[in-house]
Order: sequence, then C-alpha cells, then structure tokens
Amino acid sequence: MTSSGLFISFEGIDGAGKSTHIEPLAEAFRAQGRALVLTREPGGTPLAEQLRTLILRDPMDAMTEALLVFAARRDHLQTLIEPALARGEVVLCDRFTDATFAYQGGGRGFDVDMLAYLEQRVQAVAGLGSRALRQPDMTLWFDLAPDVAAARLSQTRAPDRFEAQPLEFFRRVAQAYGQRQAADPARFTRIDASLPREQVWQALRLAVHKRGWLT
Ligand code: TYD
Repeated sequence: MTSSGLFISFEGIDGAGKSTHIEPLAEAFRAQGRALVLTREPGGTPLAEQLRTLILRDPMDAMTEALLVFAARRDHLQTLIEPALARGEVVLCDRFTDATFAYQGGGRGFDVDMLAYLEQRVQAVAGLGSRALRQPDMTLWFDLAPDVAAARLSQTRAPDRFEAQPLEFFRRVAQAYGQRQAADPARFTRIDASLPREQVWQALRLAVHKRGWLT
C-alpha cells in the first residue's frame, strides 16, 4: 500500500458478474469499522458521470473514446479517489485503467502506447515518491469465458454501446485483461467467475483476507 488508504478495483468483461459482489465487500469493510467509498468508472463524480453517459451512448471514434475515459478518470482521481485515500479510507472501484487497456486497447484495437502514456500522465500523483503512478493496491479480476458472459448478459437489460459488441470484441477484451494480469501479477487476483455466486464470493473474501485487509 502506498498510502494509509486502500484502493481495490473490480474488473472483467461485461456479464462476468463483478458488480454483484462490490456491495457485499463494502459491507464487510464497514462491519470492521472502515470508512469506505464505493465508486465506478467511467464515472464517480458529477463531471465523470456526465462523460460516462456520452461514452456509453454516443458513437465516437476510438481516440475520442480513450481521451474521454481518461478525462473522466482524471477528475475522479483528483476529486474523489485521492482525497479518500489521503483520509485513510477504503476505495472500491467498479473498473479502472485495466478496463481501458482491455476495451479501448484490446476491444477497439486502439494504440496501446498512447494508452500507456495517458496512464502515466493521468495517474501521476504528487507525494507518491518512487512509485509515482496511482494504481489499485489490488485488482479483483472476474475471469469468465466470453460466450458464457454473453449468454448471461442476453438475459438482462438493453445493451449499451459496449455490451452490444459482437463476441469477437469480448474475446479481445478478455485477452487484453490476461495481458494486463501477466504484466502485473502481484496486483491481480484472478477469480474464476464461472463458479456459483457463493463460491465466487468466498474466493474474493479470502483474497482480501489473505492480504490482511479483512479479518
Ligand atoms: P459496466 O462497468 O459494465 O457498468 P454496468 O454494470 O452499469 O453496465 O459498464 C461500463 C462500460 O464501460 C463497460 O462496458 C466497459 C466500458 N469501459 C471502457 O470501455 N473503458 C474504460 O476505461 C472503462 C472504465 C469502462
């Protein structure tokens, strides 16, 4: 951990089921007396939520999409995440930059070097010392085969601009998540999201417990 706070992100392709487990994990932290912020990307602040509406709804080219995602992230970091971490709080974030590498990089095929540059600039945080880049302390990656995830999604609400993408798009997204994990295995915890919900919950609870963050 780089500050007194704790930053945990949730990742995975659409339909992997990550959102189901965020609130229960928040409750587990609260039950142990931790102040906590539950948030999401794109979004999490009034400005970033407006950008989210545009990103999920309006057609745009891949660079515009990448820039808007990072613009939303910058505002989110500066006005919500960094102040919460500085206060020593737990921040649970539904998606963070790994989603950008997965969706814009993998899914859209957008220039990964430019994403890496934006990551460096947007997530640079004064006072972090040698580790100048803000990243989650842990990323819970809900890994699920794209065809299984698509079958789950088809039973829910109307798809947004990403959820409407073909299976091939999600294969690339899933592959890019795998590459992000391989590049930073210490940060990632892979959760087998094909398991029944209760077992998925136990696996992620155990992962957080093992790091000493929950008893
Ligand atoms: P999601 O997190 O699945 O929220 P909900 O459960 O409300 O649908 O939706 C966010 C979408 O945004 C998801 O399809 C992935 C996409 N996304 C990106 O393309 N790039 C990003 O950097 C982030 C954070 C999300």
